[in-house]
Amino acid sequence: MTSLSPLTPHPSPSAPVIAIDGPSASGKGTVAALVAEALGFHYLDSGAIYRATAYAAERAGIDLADEAALVALAGRLDLRFDAGEVYLDGQAVGDAIRGEAAGSVASRIAALPDLRQALLARQRAFRQAPGLVTDGRDMGTVVFPDAGLKVFLTASVEERAQRRYKQLIEKGFDASLPRILQDLRDRDARDAARSVAPLRKTDQALLLDTTRMTIEEAVRQVVDWYAGRVV
Ligand code: DC
Repeated sequence: MTSLSPLTPHPSPSAPVIAIDGPSASGKGTVAALVAEALGFHYLDSGAIYRATAYAAERAGIDLADEAALVALAGRLDLRFDAGEVYLDGQAVGDAIRGEAAGSVASRIAALPDLRQALLARQRAFRQAPGLVTDGRDMGTVVFPDAGLKVFLTASVEERAQRRYKQLIEKGFDASLPRILQDLRDRDARDAARSVAPLRKTDQALLLDTTRMTIEEAVRQVVDWYAGRVV
């Protein structure tokens, strides 16, 4: 798996794309990264772009309702992905942006249409040979509507809360299971109800419910679906 700067100037509109969309904490990021590794494709965690933008906005003291200021910020954001780490202005921010607080702010600013538009080209620049696996909410619907394989990866909200809880505790964060469950429910509702690029499964996307699946099984399923499409 290779990580690229979104500013790398060689996007390839014909490179194959596997778009994996789904709700928070479904495991889609882990699955997408492993599918990318299995296929030797690039990987884009689009949620990290929203999270890093939210983090940069808070750091700059920008009012989260000031869409024009957020759009301007998105345009000048120095954001780089390298070997699983996210760099903002050259500083590693992976842990800071993956916390629940950053996720919640990301979900709020992600409802702003002009901001989403401002982040489009940045995401599309990741489409490079030999291919891209990407995860988010609107990868198959808006960012890469011509993706060769679209997957809607989900799990029950209780299972997702458990997974997120375990992940946070393992990383040494403070976490409360009931609070995570409530936050996921709120975030699902907000991501699904917004008027632009709402979270939804389209008819073209294959449903992958991982509630009772291991990560390896989920990865194998996506790789098998992809192999079935390209041969
Ligand atoms: O996938 P994630 O939890 O890291 O995403 C954080 C927030 O960013 C999520 O609540 C909604 C938003 N998001 C989005 O609107 N569109 C995407 N493609 C990815 C994330």
